[in-house]
Amino acid sequence: MATFLVYMNAQGDNLLKLSKNNGIYGIILSMKEATVKTKSEEETIKVGKKIAGLILNNNIDKIVISLIGELGAGKTVIAKGIAEGIGCTDSVESPTFTFLHIHKGKLPLYHFDLYRVNDINDIDEIGMLEYIEKIGITVIEWGDKIKDLVEIDLIIKINKVDENEREINLIFSETFRGAIDEDFIN
Ligand SMILES: Nc1ncnc2c1ncn2[C@@H]1O[C@H](COP(=O)(O)OP(=O)(O)O)[C@@H](O)[C@H]1O
Ligand SMILES: [Mg+2]
Repeated sequence: MATFLVYMNAQGDNLLKLSKNNGIYGIILSMKEATVKTKSEEETIKVGKKIAGLILNNNIDKIVISLIGELGAGKTVIAKGIAEGIGCTDSVESPTFTFLHIHKGKLPLYHFDLYRVNDINDIDEIGMLEYIEKIGITVIEWGDKIKDLVEIDLIIKINKVDENEREINLIFSETFRGAIDEDFIN
């Protein structure tokens, strides 16, 4: 288990904190941005579960999450964690060929994978924009492809450091204002 170094910048206050309560560790750069390092798939699942907890605990019922990172970075692993976190027991796989998998949990989960989308018009065919309007959690793998089309509430960038280590950068929008506190990392 690694240390969890937290740097918060809330209302202009800089705080430096160390948390040892879980296996996830990282640096919160501000109330809007966090960087978390994980050393296994299980730790990344935990990050997904934390995000689900943040959504549920703050009664956020409609949210769009963009997952960015190369093939094998762990985008689907995050989606799995979110699914688990909303109490969904389905197996979660990349919807690479079907573009969309829908899972049921405490909120519906719309899991998109835009890997094979090269043309913005394909987005219309998938009907993605209609799902985004619905109550539920929309998770979009390769979400950078639609960043100019859709308003994103949470951007998750995953950087593959080595075989088992990932650096996960989370950028929260106004949707999460006030929601991110020590609970997120403890
Ligand atoms: N720290 C880690 N976090 C997430 N996945 C990891 C980690 N270490 C190794 N892995 C492995 O990396 C792969 C990530 O796959 P996946 O989530 O399908 O990637 P993507 O959806 O980004 O293409 C899985 O095989 C997983 O077991
Ligand atoms: Mg995937």
